[in-house]
Amino acid sequence: MTGQVRIGILISGRGSNMVALVEAMQDGRVPNAQVAVVISDQLQAAGLAAARERGIETLPIERDGRKRVDHDREVVAALKERGVNLVCLAGYMRVLSSEFIAAFPNRILNIHPSLLPSFPGLDAQRQALAHGAKISGCTVHFVDETLDGGPIIAQRAVPVSEDDTVETLSARILAQEHDLYAEAVASLVKDDRRE
Ligand code: GRF
Repeated sequence: MTGQVRIGILISGRGSNMVALVEAMQDGRVPNAQVAVVISDQLQAAGLAAARERGIETLPIERDGRKRVDHDREVVAALKERGVNLVCLAGYMRVLSSEFIAAFPNRILNIHPSLLPSFPGLDAQRQALAHGAKISGCTVHFVDETLDGGPIIAQRAVPVSEDDTVETLSARILAQEHDLYAEAVASLVKDDRRE
């Protein structure tokens, strides 16, 4: 792919990974890419205001009471209308339909707070502590139809301390997530430019 990479970020809540990606683009750390839109499936997501403050178009598309396929169709249409060619999930709490995945083949990324394939799904940090893991971390991966099971793009290890709580471990992992996500997108976009 040549030309500008247009990124659509999907969030459901706080949006700190989204902010990390937006700031990486705005600082020029991801040349040739820009965030075209931030979409939330939750009207109240705090990340919507954070995106607007950074001059990014936001679009709430509420999921409640709607079938996954109908909601996904509207999200895909909004992304396509804005010329989005790379989708980044950032705390997006809805599993994508196969139709959504087919609309962006190998162009949907997610960040997960564990070293996949360990601890997929919800509460990854709690799972790591419950298993007595000594090392956890975060993973950026392609999204396919499995739950957090798509091919891995980048990972970073984070040590687990004996006295960690879910909160302290999550905070230590989150700091690495922000860095890793921007780095992974930058390397993917760089590869795009060589094609
Ligand atoms: C992050 O831990 C991310 O790995 C997971 O959900 C959390 C979202 O946090 N998928 P934020 O909304 O990016 O602050």
